[in-house]
Amino acid sequence: MDVTLRVKRFDPEAAEPEPYWQDFTVNIEDNGTVLDALIKIREDIDGSFSLRCSCRSSICGSCAMRINGHAGLACKIQAPTAIVNGVITVEPAGNMPVVKDLVVDFDSFWDKIMEIEPYLKPEGPEPEAEYIASNESMLHLSGVTSCIMCGACVSDCTVMEVDPTFLGPAALAKAYRFTADPRDGDENGVSKDRLEELTKPSGMWDCTRCMECVTVCPKGVAPMDRIMALRDQAMAAGFTNTNGARHTEAFSESVEHSGWLDELRLVPKSVGITNLSALAGYAPIAIQALTHGKMPPIIHKKIEKAGNVRKLFDKIEGPKRH
Ligand code: FES
Repeated sequence: MDVTLRVKRFDPEAAEPEPYWQDFTVNIEDNGTVLDALIKIREDIDGSFSLRCSCRSSICGSCAMRINGHAGLACKIQAPTAIVNGVITVEPAGNMPVVKDLVVDFDSFWDKIMEIEPYLKPEGPEPEAEYIASNESMLHLSGVTSCIMCGACVSDCTVMEVDPTFLGPAALAKAYRFTADPRDGDENGVSKDRLEELTKPSGMWDCTRCMECVTVCPKGVAPMDRIMALRDQAMAAGFTNTNGARHTEAFSESVEHSGWLDELRLVPKSVGITNLSALAGYAPIAIQALTHGKMPPIIHKKIEKAGNVRKLFDKIEGPKRH
């Protein structure tokens, strides 16, 4: 079958290096992948066309790129299923500098992976033989250990787009792989040092839960879910003196108490009521809300049947004294 690909190209050695779009039509097998079509372009039409690939089996992670606007593995996506209005649109992965055509520079990706110290760090006395972990204690890690480091999650992370310092979904999911490993940390498997580092700015609390990383991950790692689990671990380990932890607690308290969110008090409770400089930073937003009639009510009333919401909390967290 013939397929047409609209490919975003970039040649750093051109007289005026600017990205541009180019259409190619190639003939591939009916069950061919997007990668098959791209390789055909390189082999039959333009030998200067650059892309990365190796295994062609969704194992090595080298062929991650944006296909029709979302990151994925070109070797995993069947070309016929990717045709939209007659073409398949292909771009390099996002949030990383383009080296040439579809090849991006992974240096920042690997720097962040190294930042979380991606190896076991057991504390306490060394065992006489190997560190033992039961099957049950490792089973929940099978999803996150499926990560092939393709960078699809990083490519489409909406936080990294505006804040390149954010550790990002790949590194944070990798961090969880160690904080949740019973062989890492103290004798109870608590990696306090790691969690403390990860609660700092650009860490776990900077995820905005847009779900893009979960949607595009070709291996079902669900990085955002791991980030949420890291937050739970950090709070359980006592790291509650952060904007993120306070925000979570204030949000939850408000909904549990009144059945809905008290937006007016959420910001001061999150940044700290005595943190005047941070609060002053929110003044322009508050003025905008006021002038646009979006100011939340000053008196926050309970919704009707707020008790039902509390029952849900009791069901999940167990009954407690209110
Ligand atoms: S070529 Fe290895 S994952 Fe696609």
